[in-house]
Amino acid sequence: MKKIKIYRLAKTKSTNEVAKKLCKDKTDFVIVAEEQTAGKGRMGREWISPKGGLYFSICTDKKSILPLRASVAVVKALEDIDVEPNLKWPNDILVNDKKLGGILVEVVGEKAVVGIGINVNKSPLEYSISLKELINERISKYNLMKRIIINFHIFKDVLSYYRSHSSTIGKQVKIETPTCDLFGLVEDIDEKGCIVFKDGRKVISGDVIHLRDATE
Ligand code: BTN
Repeated sequence: MKKIKIYRLAKTKSTNEVAKKLCKDKTDFVIVAEEQTAGKGRMGREWISPKGGLYFSICTDKKSILPLRASVAVVKALEDIDVEPNLKWPNDILVNDKKLGGILVEVVGEKAVVGIGINVNKSPLEYSISLKELINERISKYNLMKRIIINFHIFKDVLSYYRSHSSTIGKQVKIETPTCDLFGLVEDIDEKGCIVFKDGRKVISGDVIHLRDATE
């Protein structure tokens, strides 16, 4: 695996913003911060980032299915510490239907910044959960980050691992896209990371709301 330089910050607005600036001159580095004052989530949302969480951004060359690659890297690292998450499309990391982590991928020319946030000591919202609530022993968030970075760079079987951990496949969903809401039964996630509905429609991005299992 290539050598990855890790830059540690005590506090910043957003590790993705720092990484996007730096990636004009460099690749293969990571920015990690103890806290973020303007952490960003998907769809223009805020990512509340108090001290005690894990907030980092990986700068890499643009590759295929980056959001899925990052999701799988996080899931695998969590499984190694006996946490069993699943994935709500495209890349919400959930445990017991509560959000443990999220991923924000931003493309800058031929590079991409993959921002990962995990609630470690605190769950900042009612519908979120933290690692502290799930495991008794103290975990090193930097070891967790390193496992995620390694998985991100070496993991091969991304799509099948993603599919096997998807909680969206097999559900009736509503997908909110910038232009309209779509409803349907999710049959698969394809090799581009799109949702594939049972009737063949495909969706590349949006916000998913799980309605019910197809069997219910
Ligand atoms: C989401 O689920 O909406 C995505 C959340 C992504 C949060 C991470 S924390 C590190 C990086 N820096 C940011 O400002 N956002 C991402």
